[in-house]
Amino acid sequence: MRIGLVGSGDVAQSLAKGFIGMDHEVMIGTRDPGKKDLEKLKTKLGKHFTVGTTTEAANFGEIVFLAVAWHAGEDVIAQIRPQLAGKIVIDVTNPLIFNDGEPPQLAVGHTISGGEIVQQSLPDSHVVKALNIINHQNMIQPKYKSGVPTMFVCGNNKSAINHTGELLHEMGWEDIVDLGGIEKSRLLEPLCLLWVEYGIAKNTWSHAFSVLAK
Ligand SMILES: NC(=O)c1ccc[n+]([C@@H]2O[C@H](COP(=O)([O-])OP(=O)(O)OC[C@H]3O[C@@H](n4cnc5c(N)ncnc54)[C@H](OP(=O)(O)O)[C@@H]3O)[C@@H](O)[C@H]2O)c1
Repeated sequence: MRIGLVGSGDVAQSLAKGFIGMDHEVMIGTRDPGKKDLEKLKTKLGKHFTVGTTTEAANFGEIVFLAVAWHAGEDVIAQIRPQLAGKIVIDVTNPLIFNDGEPPQLAVGHTISGGEIVQQSLPDSHVVKALNIINHQNMIQPKYKSGVPTMFVCGNNKSAINHTGELLHEMGWEDIVDLGGIEKSRLLEPLCLLWVEYGIAKNTWSHAFSVLAK
């Protein structure tokens, strides 16, 4: 499958490595395709990995991941809306505000979520919120001592949810829970803050959520 990754940060680079390992074709889209770290990644990942502009990556992907800093999302989406029409857009972003020396806070939450804002900005795309509650290193093959964690997804289009579930399964996720419409992002985005608080409390940054059933 051709996978477009909009963004070139830690998430996009980890997903690129993982998807190339799974024999997909991947393009990262960025404002600066000449970045040194991306040149290195090209050498490492080979001919099925390319780097382009944000628009090129959105155009390339049969499925596209939105993996940009929240404050950049609105502008980036406005540039690539036509290229994303009709496509599944997997939104891994968290609507975070950072203040020096403090844990991040949510920019939105009670009455609307980041996922809903992304879906409203992309009315012709099928937005699925996923992978926002796991650190980038463990998005692919999330194997832990106690097993594979739980991954929650939500979105308005059932077929898009099912396709995302198949891809997540291929990525090594086993317990994938469809929460319903994109408004369930109001539950998923605060979990990111809980993930951060757990990390601060326990001094660990590779943890993940798992729901245990008896
Ligand atoms: N890091 C994690 O483990 C993790 C886990 C789950 C979810 N998330 C979420 O995933 C998203 C990506 O996270 P990240 O850690 O990979 O990196 P990040 O530092 O949050 O975002 C980096 C990306 O945002 C883009 N960006 C930053 N400022 C911009 C601006 N003013 N205009 C346009 N683009 C801008 C950059 O684009 P260019 O390529 O053009 O420079 C870069 O690709 C975030 O929303 C984050 O909250 C992160």
